[in-house]
Amino acid sequence: MEASISVSQIDMISALSRAMDLLNPFLTDHHMQTAYIAISISKELGLSQSDQNDLAIAASLHDIGAITLKERLDALNFELSPPYPHAEIGYHLLKTFEPYSGNIANIVRYHHNSWNYKNIKDIDSKKIPLSTYILNISDRVAVLVKKEKNILTIAEDIEKKIEEDIRFMPEIVLAFKSVAAKEHFWLDVIDPFINRILIKNFEWNKLNFDINGIKNIANFFSHIIDFRSRFTATHSAGVTASARTLAKLCGMSEEECHLMEIAGFLHDIGKLSIPNEILEKPGQLTKEEFNIIKTHSYFTYRILENIPSFNKINEWSDYHHERLDGRGYPFRLNNKDLSLGSRILAVADIFTAIKEDRPYRKGMSKFEIIEVLDTMALNSAVDGDIVEVLKNNYVKISEFCIISQDKALQDYKNFENKVKNHS
Ligand SMILES: [Fe+2]
Ligand SMILES: [Fe+2]
Ligand SMILES: [Fe+2]
Repeated sequence: MEASISVSQIDMISALSRAMDLLNPFLTDHHMQTAYIAISISKELGLSQSDQNDLAIAASLHDIGAITLKERLDALNFELSPPYPHAEIGYHLLKTFEPYSGNIANIVRYHHNSWNYKNIKDIDSKKIPLSTYILNISDRVAVLVKKEKNILTIAEDIEKKIEEDIRFMPEIVLAFKSVAAKEHFWLDVIDPFINRILIKNFEWNKLNFDINGIKNIANFFSHIIDFRSRFTATHSAGVTASARTLAKLCGMSEEECHLMEIAGFLHDIGKLSIPNEILEKPGQLTKEEFNIIKTHSYFTYRILENIPSFNKINEWSDYHHERLDGRGYPFRLNNKDLSLGSRILAVADIFTAIKEDRPYRKGMSKFEIIEVLDTMALNSAVDGDIVEVLKNNYVKISEFCIISQDKALQDYKNFENKVKNHS
């Protein structure tokens, strides 16, 4: 039996952080830049290792609650007044993952609150960790960095703006000024490989996730991917359950079945690069919109390839829109290239997707689903043997899929209610 995989926390977080920044070219590296600035300041202030680590994670994910493209761009605007729905939504998303539900969730919740308490009248200020104010200032600095101008020329201007802004805590401004005096700080911020600098230069908590830990964090990532729309709120959960059951029935080992679950949770992570305005469009997509949707499995590949030891998971996840006849996308692979794992995930994805309601159509019946899959097998789009396994075990697979989607729906409803109560 092959060795169980393990993945470092920072590799997982930086992959997710980069995925979020794919949404718009203006956002390139925004999360990583903010994390780099925040950690530099927290080191200067002498924060404890564990506080630095929590801040790094919070900064890497701070705008996860900004769901549409408009919200993501609004999140960069510092002149907005409270409430800040994306900070509240981010807080509730983090609450769905136990290890991040405490300090990290709190830092994200208040990251737009300024230090001078003007807009936090109703909040018990003791609840707000110091790291929140470090994140607040770091976010502002990252927004002011413009890659098209020479960074060392505009650095002085940025420092001046920060210094004159009474919304920032004076001690943090001083620490920022002392890190900003070094040229390398600014050059690091705009470095296209800032994720490598972050991983190399800071003492991250060297937490490694074992297979169960990876499954849990992958499940949390699937909430960020799927909770953007009520139509897809349970999609990854359904794909995961059906892919795992199919994998078992096709003779895969227990270890491979675990990997298949992780692939199921992450297969659509590239969708974070697609504006919700397109994902939720009720009518027929234009050619251009469909082309944008088509990019998602390519981005899944580019995001997951940064995680060493994810080779198999990456291969199974990325190829879920490839076809045996070579007419799929984005690699135009064919039956010679597609492994059993990729074929299983492709069938599980189609099975789950056509069962679900979408803005433009209702979910299909068992009869219709089997008809679609049979036709696809006949046209060499998907593997006929796997479709046979699915048909022969339809009740079992569909039951597992429903149980898992019901659980995800419950999580989504809890999340939705909490967000509603606060807005
Ligand atoms: Fe924000
Ligand atoms: Fe997909
Ligand atoms: Fe999918």
